[in-house]
Amino acid sequence: MRTVVTPARKLIGEIDIPGDKSISHRAVMLGSLAKGTTRIKHFLTGEDCLNTIRAFESMGVDILTEVNSDNETEVIIRGKGLRGLKEPSSVINVGNSGTTARLLSGILAGQTFGSVLDGDASLRRRPMGRVVEPLSMMGAKIEADNGKLPMNIHASVLKSIEYRMPVASAQVKSAIMLAALYAQSPALIHQSSMSRDHTEIMMNYFGGRVEASDLVIRAYPADELYGRDLYVPGDISSAAFFITAALLVPGSRITMTRVGINPTRTGILDIYRQMGADIIIENIDNANGEPMGDITATYSPLNGVEIGGAVIPRLIDEIPIIALAATQAHGTTVIRDAAELKVKESNRIDTVVRTLRTLGADIEATEDGMIIHGPTPLTGNVIACGMDHRIAMMAAIAGLIARDRTIIDDSQWVDISFPGFFSIIEKLR
Ligand code: S3P
Repeated sequence: MRTVVTPARKLIGEIDIPGDKSISHRAVMLGSLAKGTTRIKHFLTGEDCLNTIRAFESMGVDILTEVNSDNETEVIIRGKGLRGLKEPSSVINVGNSGTTARLLSGILAGQTFGSVLDGDASLRRRPMGRVVEPLSMMGAKIEADNGKLPMNIHASVLKSIEYRMPVASAQVKSAIMLAALYAQSPALIHQSSMSRDHTEIMMNYFGGRVEASDLVIRAYPADELYGRDLYVPGDISSAAFFITAALLVPGSRITMTRVGINPTRTGILDIYRQMGADIIIENIDNANGEPMGDITATYSPLNGVEIGGAVIPRLIDEIPIIALAATQAHGTTVIRDAAELKVKESNRIDTVVRTLRTLGADIEATEDGMIIHGPTPLTGNVIACGMDHRIAMMAAIAGLIARDRTIIDDSQWVDISFPGFFSIIEKLR
C-alpha cells in the first residue's frame, strides 16, 4: 500500500495511543498458561500481537474478542493451565514478530511435545542463537540452522541455570524466565544492563514468583498461574512518533492519554528533555503493576545531544524517531552503544541513515550508532521501509515537516504495531 504524506501546519489534539506491544504479547502468553479466565482491555490488535494469539490458538487455547457494555474491546482468554497446551498440528509461524518467537521458544522448550517455530523473511534473518544458548544450558533440545529460524524444539526436561547475559535483551531474559516456570529449580539471570521488565511484573501479577533486584533476577518454577484482568497502557514506543511530531511541527501540542511510563521504557523522555523539549506527564496511575500517565508534548526548539550507555536499552525502539528529531536539532547528536539496532526488524543503523539521507538529512552511520548534524531542511521523496514498521512511521512523521510530498511505498507495515496511525495524523491536522 502507498500512502502520501503532505506537510502539516500544526498538530493539535488529544489522542489514544494503542496498547503496548510488549505488554500485549505477554498478557496473551501468560493468560494462555494460566488457569481460569484472563480479560485484557486496550489490547494492541497489531499484526505482531495477533500472531501471538494465533500461536496459542494453534495449541488449543480459546481466545475471543468481545465488545463490553462500555463499548470497549476486550480479549478474553480461557487459559489452559501451565501444563495444558496441546501439540500444534503444523508449524507455528509468527510472521514479523521477534518478541513472539523469542518468548515463545522459552515456553515451548518446557512442553511435553515438540514444535517448529518459523517467521517471515525479516524474522528469518534475525538471531535466535541468543535464546537457543541459555535454553540449551537449561536442557532444552533445539535445532536452529545457523542460529536462525526455522527452529525445531523438542520435548525436554528443564533444569536450573545461572546465566550472565551478553546483551541487554528483554526478549532473552523473558525466554529464560518463561522456561523457568517448567524447570526443576529457579533460574538466576545477571543482566548486563537494565532492559524492560514487563515479564517480571506480569509473572508476579499472574501468581508466579520472580524476584528482581538491581541487575539480578531469580525466576522460580510454578505449579500454576491464575487468570487475571488487565489493562494494557498505551505504547510509549508508538506515542514516540506523536511526541516527536508535536516537538517538530511549529505551533503543535499533542496529549496522549494513559501511556505506559515504566522507567525501563522512558529513555526517550529523558533524552528529549535534555534536548530542550517541553514534555509533561499528568494523571499518573497504575495498571496491573505498570505505571501510566497522560503525556503532553508541545513544539520546542531542540539541541543536539550525546546518547549512549545505560539509556540505550530504555529507548532502543525509539532510535529511528529520535534520529529524525536530531536532524532538526541545533548542533550534533551522537548515538553510540546501539549495535543492537543492526538486528531489529531491519538493520536500523543502515535503514535510518539511508531513509533520512534520502529526505535530505546530514547523517552518517558508525559501527554502533550514528552521527547527525542539524538542523537541515527535509524534502519529500519516495520511501520503502523494507519490512520495518518503525522506519515507515519515522518517514511519515518526517513527511509532516518536509517540503513537498513524502510517499511511503509499503505503508501497510505500520499495522505491525500501530493500526490507525495514519488516521491519527489526519485527526491532528
Ligand atoms: C522487546 C524487547 C526489545 C525490543 C522489542 C520488544 C520485548 O528487544 O526491541 O521491540 O517485548 O521484550 P530485545 O530484547 O531484542 O532488545
